[in-house]
Amino acid sequence: MASVIVLGAQWGDEGKGKIVDYLAQEADAVVRYSGGSNAGHTVVVNDIAYKLRLLPSGVLFPDKINILGNGVVINPKVVLEEIAGMQAKGIACKNLVISDRAHVVLPYHQRLDELQENALGSHKIGTTKSGIGPCYMDKVARVGIRICDLLEADTFAEKLKINLQAKNEIITKIYGAKPFIYQEVLEEYLGYAEQLRPYVTDTGVILDEAFAANKKVLFEGAQATFLDIDHGTYPYVTSSNPTGGNACTGSGIGPKNIDHVVGVVKAYTTRVGEGPFVTELFDADGNYLRETGREYGTVTGRPRRCGWLDAFMLRYSARLNSLDYLAITRLDILDGLPKIKMCVGYKYQGEVLKRIPASLNVLAQVEPIYEEFEGWLTDISSIRKYEDLPANAKKYLERLSEVAGVGLGIVSVGPNREQTIVLKELL
Ligand code: IMP
Repeated sequence: MASVIVLGAQWGDEGKGKIVDYLAQEADAVVRYSGGSNAGHTVVVNDIAYKLRLLPSGVLFPDKINILGNGVVINPKVVLEEIAGMQAKGIACKNLVISDRAHVVLPYHQRLDELQENALGSHKIGTTKSGIGPCYMDKVARVGIRICDLLEADTFAEKLKINLQAKNEIITKIYGAKPFIYQEVLEEYLGYAEQLRPYVTDTGVILDEAFAANKKVLFEGAQATFLDIDHGTYPYVTSSNPTGGNACTGSGIGPKNIDHVVGVVKAYTTRVGEGPFVTELFDADGNYLRETGREYGTVTGRPRRCGWLDAFMLRYSARLNSLDYLAITRLDILDGLPKIKMCVGYKYQGEVLKRIPASLNVLAQVEPIYEEFEGWLTDISSIRKYEDLPANAKKYLERLSEVAGVGLGIVSVGPNREQTIVLKELL
């Protein structure tokens, strides 16, 4: 297999970082294609935790090419801080390349994200307040500033002036907040431009060359399927397309270059921010999942909402993304539960649904159809072979795979690289 997309099949925080890091061992290049510093994951190698927001997980390997594609929105300050943090831990980040077509997250995007969220009150999305939505808004409105513009001092100065005039009007007149001072932003960002310059190039061309040389390429999704602007629980979504199709658009390659798509699935479900969540738990089981799984946001520290695995959602995710395999993470978190439930379908007004409803009003009223499983009540974190898993754990996994309609590829039983059970070589 030459190229694989690894993406979140639920609402994010599935543990994609760990799976990408694991598969990156075999890859020649790792590419991020959407989102920005709203993402956050922790990769543990030799008991050292690396917190990544923008950098692809492949940066931990000095010999891989790491690409931030054109579909990513880049906060220069965050990426530079992240590079410096990695360098302080001995990771040089020499093979990082950033697309000249990626859009830049500027301080007014972040400010507007905060102001818009606060103004929405009880209707807020629950964003990470990283400026992602406002940056993608500018991209689509064709007023955005790309990395290539940032590197041309005159172009940046002109575009920043136009943007800042418009944004300051909104910031001061609509929200009554403090405006930005043009000269300050200009100087700060021209400074970042010089630090970023060595990393910037046409990353689509690098990928083309990699494919021509039969290199193995890993596409690393950020956020997840149900946070997709088109296919997620709109408007409680992010402002980009984390689904598989965007791996191509967001990195400047054609669809024929993709061989396989792997959906990362946490053995239960979590969500941060607002929006519908059919299998959400408000009881002791929910607390167990949150505390045992340390389910608190990497970027915001917010407690995550927790619930049973929704395998019906996964079936939809499988169709949307053409999933070939599932990578199940955090199965070990379920070790202490005597009974485990899995949602295998939805009922609405007494009828079993065939698909996930688009209407949030309907979704708010659907009832989950649960199947109950006996827990295994054993520590599985040191198991390395599928056949050595307790029979009840295998039953749970096999039913999950059956409802989703996708085979199992990987089962992860702990945060470390070696705590990984491989059923299928994916790269
Ligand atoms: P935004 O991407 O910051 O605009 O946030 C929009 C929604 O996506 C909110 O519900 C966030 O909590 C959620 N979100 C964004 N990034 C992530 C992520 O990496 N993991 C989980 N949820 C995320």
